[in-house]
Amino acid sequence: MTEILTENKAPDKKQVIYSAIQPSGNITLGNYIGALRNFSLFEDKESLFCVADLHSLTVRQDPAQLRKRSQSLAALYIACGLDPEKNVIYCQSHVPQHAELAWILNCYTYMGELNRMTQFKDKSQKHADNINAGLFTYPVLMAADILLYQTNIVPVGLDQKQHVEICRDIAQRFNGVYGDVFQIPEPYIRKTTAKIMSLSEPTKKMSKSDPDESFVSLFDEPDVIRRKIKRAVTDSEAEIRFDPENKPGVSNLLTILSALKNTTIEEVEKELSGLGYGALKEAAAETIVTEFAPIQSRYKEILADKTYLPNILKENAARAQYMALKTLRKVYKKVGLYQP
Ligand code: TRP
Repeated sequence: MTEILTENKAPDKKQVIYSAIQPSGNITLGNYIGALRNFSLFEDKESLFCVADLHSLTVRQDPAQLRKRSQSLAALYIACGLDPEKNVIYCQSHVPQHAELAWILNCYTYMGELNRMTQFKDKSQKHADNINAGLFTYPVLMAADILLYQTNIVPVGLDQKQHVEICRDIAQRFNGVYGDVFQIPEPYIRKTTAKIMSLSEPTKKMSKSDPDESFVSLFDEPDVIRRKIKRAVTDSEAEIRFDPENKPGVSNLLTILSALKNTTIEEVEKELSGLGYGALKEAAAETIVTEFAPIQSRYKEILADKTYLPNILKENAARAQYMALKTLRKVYKKVGLYQP
């Protein structure tokens, strides 16, 4: 497959862009750098950004909290600069076609394929008491999300690459039987910023399900961000050098800095050369604080208006349904479901 690993370049015009984030838990600096921040590269394209609430159900959720987090994520999309008039920002469960197409695609997906998914293996280890069928077929629902909108490009973090690949396989298999029903999507993963690591265990990916001090949340106050970065694990040398193998903590801070400043790692290394880890941490913390400040204040404004967000989500669900129905009708017809 052609894989798009790129620096700052947005793809050509007239393409459908689709991405989603689950509303389960805090949105971290890793989600922001790996996914959310890249979404605005596609501002002038036909883009859909979804709150993947159905996916969240594969792990037990507190209902009140899930409702709150879904609104919160939608508000965050807008706070990060995505215009909800231009882009379709919506909740997955407001568009019933996702679940409907997922059922059909389940019948075109093999157990063996799903068994190879590394996220399924990881999650079934983490939630050994609740290895449900939804967790197993999670990638099929994700394929339905993407394929419903004839998507060309899927901006995601590196961890989701395998899921975009299985989506392509399912789509190609289906097209092979019924003709060109689905557009085959490409993943879009930014090269330099694909993976942000945990602050307390920098050999592991930053994850919202790990202890609080291991990640920075998009909702952390400036002082919390400063404290967490100050406590980030480094090493016993004193040299600021990018070397993920031997110096994972320092390298992670350099990655964060270069990502947020849109410069190269070498550039950041040069800027800080000769300085100590204190200076590195201060630079990282201040850059994060500055980046998050306008997002956090816009986010608060959006949620303070009680009617704005619900209205936007209703309007956008209707737009998404209209697009999704076109594909679903075609699929129903092709597979032979009687539609009088
Ligand atoms: N599985 C993705 C994640 O956990 C979220 C997701 C759901 C998604 N549907 C999608 C991402 C469709 C891209 C496209 O991050």
